[in-house]
Amino acid sequence: MKGVVLAGGLGSRMYPLTKVTNKHLLPVYREPMIYYPIRTLVNAGIDEILIVTGGNNAGDFLMLLGNGKEFGLRHIDYTYQEGEGGIAAALSLAEFFADKGKIVVVLGDNIIEKNIKQAVEAFEKQEEGARILLKEVPDPQRFGVPTLDGDRVIGIEEKPSVPKSSYAVIGIYMYDSRVFDFIKTLKPSERGELEITDVNNFYIREGKMEWDVLDGWWSDAGTFESLRYAGNMVAETGANKI
Ligand code: G1P
Repeated sequence: MKGVVLAGGLGSRMYPLTKVTNKHLLPVYREPMIYYPIRTLVNAGIDEILIVTGGNNAGDFLMLLGNGKEFGLRHIDYTYQEGEGGIAAALSLAEFFADKGKIVVVLGDNIIEKNIKQAVEAFEKQEEGARILLKEVPDPQRFGVPTLDGDRVIGIEEKPSVPKSSYAVIGIYMYDSRVFDFIKTLKPSERGELEITDVNNFYIREGKMEWDVLDGWWSDAGTFESLRYAGNMVAETGANKI
């Protein structure tokens, strides 16, 4: 299976830090943010990886990551997103790379303590559809929030003011090749983006969405507060443990 790290966007929530660099190059404790999602994929046995980035600092990713030797890789693929369009728009650039196969997508600002090996193995066995990872959080209204009915996810709401569960849909998604057809039918949300939550709801409506609960801590690092939290957690307990 192949992996995609989404590392575009303007990072406007983090100005002025992101005025002269890409959010995913900012430090999280001792390493650049993007190291963590790359390791999430590598630790799950994925060694074909595409980085989707954009903006004025895209070239810095090449200088930093090269061919991925630091991660035991022999090669990394890169693609460039022109402008902004949301997570789903960035993902659409991975269609050629995916080549009709299944993919694991990680948002470049999502950091995990442990690994996603079991979920990826389960998705390998899953004949079709998608798979998401959930984590119980104190502030679900900041995230995509699933509505659960027994052991089924029956819908996801993006940043609801009244969350229907205490779980967040974390930024690690597994999709079959139909994901690119779904993205082509999306319309921009109120924040002007093609939302990954809308993609996930396609699979849910078709009854083709599976889920697991993530083991260990998880944090995004896309706000000042979450960046500080993620850095502290990495310093205190480490991340990407196998
Ligand atoms: C995005 C997704 C959201 C998800 C979150 C995880 O939010 O839209 O559903 O829960 O990533 O980090 P954003 O970072 O774009 O606000």
